[in-house]
Amino acid sequence: MLAVDRDSGDFLYRQVIDLINDNIESGTLRPGDRLPSLRRMSDKIGVSIPTVRQAYIELERQRRVESRPQSGFYVRAVRTNELVRPAPRFRAASKPACIGCRTLMERVYDGLYSPDIVPLGIANPCMASPAAKGLHRAMKRIMARVEERAISYAPTQGEPRLRRQIAYRYLDTVGSTVDPNEICITNGGQEALLLALQAVADKGDVIAVESPTYHGLLELIDSLGMLAIEVETCPEEGVMLDSLARTLEAHPVKACMFSTTLSNPLGVTMSEEKRAEVVRLIEDHDVVLIEDDVYGDLLFDGNRPKPAEFYSRRGNVLTCGSFSKTAAPGYRIGWLLTGNYGSEIERLKRSYSCSSGLLQQLTLSEFLATGDYDRYLKTLRPVLQQNAERMRALVAEHFPEVTRTSQPVGGSVLWLELPKCVDSEVLFDNAIEAGISIAPGHIFAPRKRYTNFVRLSFGHPWSDAIESSIAWLGAEVSRLSR
Ligand SMILES: Cc1ncc(COP(=O)(O)O)c(C=O)c1O
Repeated sequence: MLAVDRDSGDFLYRQVIDLINDNIESGTLRPGDRLPSLRRMSDKIGVSIPTVRQAYIELERQRRVESRPQSGFYVRAVRTNELVRPAPRFRAASKPACIGCRTLMERVYDGLYSPDIVPLGIANPCMASPAAKGLHRAMKRIMARVEERAISYAPTQGEPRLRRQIAYRYLDTVGSTVDPNEICITNGGQEALLLALQAVADKGDVIAVESPTYHGLLELIDSLGMLAIEVETCPEEGVMLDSLARTLEAHPVKACMFSTTLSNPLGVTMSEEKRAEVVRLIEDHDVVLIEDDVYGDLLFDGNRPKPAEFYSRRGNVLTCGSFSKTAAPGYRIGWLLTGNYGSEIERLKRSYSCSSGLLQQLTLSEFLATGDYDRYLKTLRPVLQQNAERMRALVAEHFPEVTRTSQPVGGSVLWLELPKCVDSEVLFDNAIEAGISIAPGHIFAPRKRYTNFVRLSFGHPWSDAIESSIAWLGAEVSRLSR
């Protein structure tokens, strides 16, 4: 069939629009798919590049597609108004609490590693398009070059080459100066959070967290015998400053643990102004901010914001980073910007784990130094973005209409608000029976909250199993809401 008919009397650009729309309607082009480039389309259907461009721009105006800088035009996930952001603001509990959902958390972890499960409950972005080959090559080069030293102990603070590479990335990506001597390499972001928390707080202390927040943070606070207090958080801006100010006035908060970029599960990124304000507030109250910044490199637009640490005047910010989300979760390599707490953190690191794996550190420093890390991220982000859009489109298709979802601008998780009567713990149990793991909303707050929320991960190679799992979940949510 001819794509365009020059004799029809219809404008050629209109015919290109019809062609794209037909392909969207038939499902050939799906949400998140890239349209053929201007040149390719022009070649294939025999119209000029400006005509194709005119058609694509009109499709963008109609919100059928969107353009992405230096990348091309993409089919939009869902038409506007089909999904809205989760309801903003709630009244946070005003008392510190210990964690009430420990056993459910354990069941969620158990489910993740069962064979044959579709693992929608784990946030594992880089596994959507693993960097295994590039990392293996880097590791082989390291093994050949440093031989037996590669299997030895690393210095407690971490391999100097990797610390220098991390400092260089801060300079290169956000223009901030970090002293390599103020970086401690850790066993993943989780140990960075642990060391930071241990350096600044003791058993019984109150730690302020976003609500909802990353469940691993709650588990950490709980296992150290500390108490968590929730700070109101909204999906557009993150932590609400008035709620933070009230909390700091009313409670003896020792530290705040906030995610500044792509928080988990909301996916919110604090603006630069918000970062500066949060740091001003905590420093005025002489409180420490433990900044969880493990997703900083995964904004779809590639623009990493400056860490909150950049705005600190008194050194009260400890920033945690990790390569788990962006390169290799199994390497267990993260880092901590140690601020005023360098020697205490080094002492803690030595007493807990001596040091982190040297071979993994050398491999990552090679991966960064050759530019392979940046090249890899450039390929990973569009895969994640496409997955996010496919997942949102499937949720729009299969879940009850009242379902609300976050609109991810990076990372690998979608946060869903289900009909009020649906208990996501029941959904979790039924999903596990059906071979699907999800993260029920309960585990993202110290108190019983978010009972009708779930977090789904799109950090996997896309597959039919994922599509049918989302369809199954949608049908199950409909059944539970009857
Ligand atoms: C927000 C957040 N912080 C920290 C971590 C821990 O990262 P790592 O695997 O590097 O220990 C995770 C992992 O899921 C996370 O989501």
